[in-house]
Amino acid sequence: MKTVPVNLGTRSYTIYIGEGLLGKTGKLLEFSGYGKTVLLVSNSQVFQLYGGIVQSSLESCGFEVVPGITGTGEEHKNLATAEKLYDLAYTAGLDRRCAILALGGGVVGDVAGFVAATYMRGVPLIQLPTTLLAQVDSSVGGKVAVNHPRGKNIIGAFYQPKLVLADTSVLQTLPPREIRSGLAEVIKYGIIRSPGFFTWLEENLSGLLSGKPEFLTEAVQESCRIKARVVEKDETDQGLRAILNFGHTLGHAVESLTGYGVFNHGEAVGMGMVAAAQLAAALGLLPEKEAERITVLIRRTGLPVEIPGDLPADVLVAAMRQDKKASAGRLTMVLPVEIGRVEVVRNVPETAVLKLLDSSRPFPEP
Ligand code: NAD
Ligand code: GLY
Repeated sequence: MKTVPVNLGTRSYTIYIGEGLLGKTGKLLEFSGYGKTVLLVSNSQVFQLYGGIVQSSLESCGFEVVPGITGTGEEHKNLATAEKLYDLAYTAGLDRRCAILALGGGVVGDVAGFVAATYMRGVPLIQLPTTLLAQVDSSVGGKVAVNHPRGKNIIGAFYQPKLVLADTSVLQTLPPREIRSGLAEVIKYGIIRSPGFFTWLEENLSGLLSGKPEFLTEAVQESCRIKARVVEKDETDQGLRAILNFGHTLGHAVESLTGYGVFNHGEAVGMGMVAAAQLAAALGLLPEKEAERITVLIRRTGLPVEIPGDLPADVLVAAMRQDKKASAGRLTMVLPVEIGRVEVVRNVPETAVLKLLDSSRPFPEP
């Protein structure tokens, strides 16, 4: 088992990474001092696979488990799901000492985290991430949220978990498309902070894609380490933390314009990272060769690298201007200046973005 500390003063916690950790959930919480009733939030798909292991581990250590089963998919990351979970928690008598556990991908983690942040003004949150994306990103760092009908993650908080257990054996049941989606975020960490990790990914991609546990564990650990160091410096997203959004300005635009069903998060971020690298090269900020390495690695991962031809460049740019980083209507993007280092560039010339978006894709079907 590997561990990564997240040092945030009184909100510090440990990320445990390794095989078979879900079966140790009860033991790890036994002497926490938390109340003996816990709410175990999961969706039906994940609960069917792993709910039993977690539940029996908790019960064998004297906890009473109240399952809170949500619907599957982004459309359930909303206030209606949160309200059902508040009802369950209150009816079961959970008080402020009782923990909420999030067993699932980023959707479950975000909504259960939001409920933990707000139920009785905050109860202990334990993240049990089961997708690669959740293990390397959403379970770490304390961003919790639900969606508003008019926007993603509009209602949320910064609320750190007490513990993260990333059981890498659960990645064996994850569909290959979800592995690739998580790998987009893993590659992101190499580009923003670690040339050595990027090279390691280039060399070990086939092991990762074939789901070899030792490779996945290494990738989760290094990704968590990088994310933890960024979050420690800027917990509430006032500056540096923006670099974690590399690839997301265009990625979010693609996701929202295509309606969140067509591309998953990692696929959209992959396209965004390729476009950001090519834009940085076109602006003379990044050597062409480095942009090419980024594009090649993302393509080898099996992620789409071209923006769909039916999304007009001007519509994409208008959506990119809605990004949280934009100020006074000016396009702000995280752009790489070398592999391992990015900068937040304000006032990105829109003509360069339009040119890139027009040139990098096939023409739309007539
Ligand atoms: P997801 O939660 O929708 O999970 C993807 C699918 O995999 C679901 O169908 C799920 O049921 C299934 N699944 C989960 N674990 C499985 C397993 N071990 N075996 C088989 N199937 C499994 O998607 P995701 O990519 O994990 O998360 C996306 C969400 O995360 C988005 O809502 C995004 O906004 C959020 N997010 C949050 C942060 C943050 O910092 N809080 C960061 C990145 C993304
Ligand atoms: N996923 C971006 C962040 O945690 O800030």
